[in-house]
Amino acid sequence: MQIEVLSLFPEMFAGFLSSSIVARAIEKEAIDVRLTDFRSFSKNKHRKVDDYAYGGFAGLVLQAQPIWDALNALLEQGPAPVIYFTPQGRQLNQAILEHYAALPRVILLCGHYKELDQRIRDMAISDEISLGDYVLSGGELASMVFIDGVARLQAGVLTDAQSATSDSFSDGKDSLGFPCYSRPEEWMGVKVPPVLTSGDHAQIEAWAQAQAKSLTRTRRTNEIPSKLKGPMRIGSKS
Ligand code: ADE
Repeated sequence: MQIEVLSLFPEMFAGFLSSSIVARAIEKEAIDVRLTDFRSFSKNKHRKVDDYAYGGFAGLVLQAQPIWDALNALLEQGPAPVIYFTPQGRQLNQAILEHYAALPRVILLCGHYKELDQRIRDMAISDEISLGDYVLSGGELASMVFIDGVARLQAGVLTDAQSATSDSFSDGKDSLGFPCYSRPEEWMGVKVPPVLTSGDHAQIEAWAQAQAKSLTRTRRTNEIPSKLKGPMRIGSKS
């Protein structure tokens, strides 16, 4: 999968692309990420890419010309959907990641400042995606979230032990995961739930499903938890 990123801050991607699963996906050639600073396409003598909004609204607007030229330079090399990250987009979820992970090429456009000139959005953007109802300073973090999400879905990137098929939300699953425990069986006087060491696989599966259902109910209904934990201190137990 070829992933083209248009950003004014390509340096933000260095640590991200050289770490963990994403680095492995690149090394295995499951994904190829190319960064383009669209400021280099600006025809302004000061390489400006933004200007005031018509109508006197606060904030700067990214101008159409540099983005249009940068996109066309990439599209000359072949077609691809162009995804723009903005709080106004549809909210990212696993089904969206699965859709894009199956495509050979995508172009990710990271905005900054207030917004993009609407004409670019109308003429050159295939899809607009948001991480959620909050405002970040730019689309870079959102595009990293997207890249991580599609990289781990590429064949051969995760080992069997890390398998994406058991993820929450994969294959139309819409429930959250369940609590996990590892050795030792007793730690700080707290034991692992006995069902997990019972060897009874049917019971273990039923326990995991019930836990996931209850977690999904309490975490995805916007219900205010009856008890929120306060600050933790060294040696905290709960
Ligand atoms: N850019 C700024 N805020 C964003 C958000 N919430 N999601 C995606 N892109 C963004």
